[in-house]
Amino acid sequence: HGLMRAAIRRQVRAGNPDARLLLDPVMQADPFPHYEALRSSYPFAPGAFARLTVHHDASTAVLRSDDFGVTHPTQVVPAPARAALALAGPPRNPGPIEPPSMLAVDAPDHPRYRKLVNRAFTARRVAALRERTTEVAQELLDDMDRAARDGDGHTVDLVAHYASLLPVTVISEMLGVPLAMREQFLSWGDGAATSLDMGLTRRAHASMEANLAALNDWMREHLRRLRREPGDDLLSSLVGEVDDDGAGLSEQELVSTALLVLAAGFETTVNLIGNGTAQLFAHPEQRERLVAEPDLWPNAVDEILRFDPPVERTARRAKRDTEVAGTAVAEGDLVVTVLAGANRDPHVFADPATFDVARPNAKEHLAFSSGPHFCLGAQLARMEGEVALRALFERHPHLTPAGPARRRPTRILRGYAELPVRLEPAV
Ligand code: HEM
Repeated sequence: HGLMRAAIRRQVRAGNPDARLLLDPVMQADPFPHYEALRSSYPFAPGAFARLTVHHDASTAVLRSDDFGVTHPTQVVPAPARAALALAGPPRNPGPIEPPSMLAVDAPDHPRYRKLVNRAFTARRVAALRERTTEVAQELLDDMDRAARDGDGHTVDLVAHYASLLPVTVISEMLGVPLAMREQFLSWGDGAATSLDMGLTRRAHASMEANLAALNDWMREHLRRLRREPGDDLLSSLVGEVDDDGAGLSEQELVSTALLVLAAGFETTVNLIGNGTAQLFAHPEQRERLVAEPDLWPNAVDEILRFDPPVERTARRAKRDTEVAGTAVAEGDLVVTVLAGANRDPHVFADPATFDVARPNAKEHLAFSSGPHFCLGAQLARMEGEVALRALFERHPHLTPAGPARRRPTRILRGYAELPVRLEPAV
């Protein structure tokens, strides 16, 4: 293991673009200059074990192409490259969740997984949830105000008291998961969030697996309870359709689907709320514009997703020899699509490094990916982000940062672990 970490550090020092992007801690806070350095390599920047693209058209082409398939997150480094990187030793354990979720399977299994849950996330269903989400936001803001009063009177951690709680509350209600489990889920979720990353220490990897296993066990048991006493929620309706030898989902497939929807529902939207707050702190003139023109909030949410996306990148592997933007790609090649880089492609976005809540084509970002795996929860996430941020800034028009923010240790998921804020103006 020590050898592996040394090899990775060598690649980082050698300036290999993918090793730096994947592993250099400097990239966590501000990867954007690095993307710009890769911008002149079209469509791909060569890496030690993958090709990287920061281009919008090439990323879209890869994500939509039948010639590419998903990669299991734990197999991102192919065997030959592992050897080249001296990452010898047994391949990393794919973890206790088998079979993988819809995120990690291709057609023909993928549409079967996705079809069953799709109906819960249509624009109409999401519109119906808006009112309840607004109530949740107001209740959480009340609790946050109380926490501030009980503390020093005016400062709180926005992530712990608001950004992390709103998405997990909404998704738990949708799934019929008891609210009392909220804190436990957040803690398991935090422990499991690194499963998307690589270069973990042995201890971090063991902890990630233990957290995944705990989530898996709890969900299996929960589905058994719902089978006995179904409620009026998405999971209860899915449990009734479990079909171990037919066209529906098997029991284990339902467990992994439920876990993905639950985790995707609270691991990413927290970052949208946190990153959005931080960007509005950093751009006071944009914040004033939203006060004057509140109809811009939906567009502002897309601009936040473009400018500071909660999911930095994803990857695909070529299933056969193919080409992307005229460049040959061989079967087995790994392509990393840097969503956060594509979102700053000057061919699509004028003045891409400017944060502009009124940007006319903000929605063209790739923060929700593209193609068959396009985020199932995109409409829900947009609605939650809009409700949460607008309610926060309307309740606390003088909100300011109160001390240094701390980033989450995850790489693919970009966001804050802690964002101290001051609710009242300083006197
Ligand atoms: C897939 C981002 C919120 C459920 C994805 C993917 C991205 C993404 C980038 C595709 C990854 C790939 O192509 O490899 C986000 C962001 C969110 C968010 C940035 C918040 C701001 C949500 C929410 C839910 C959700 C709230 C559900 C309640 C899913 C599911 C998939 C997915 C189920 C897998 C879809 C498939 O494989 O077909 N998300 N997501 N996401 N997301 Fe989200």
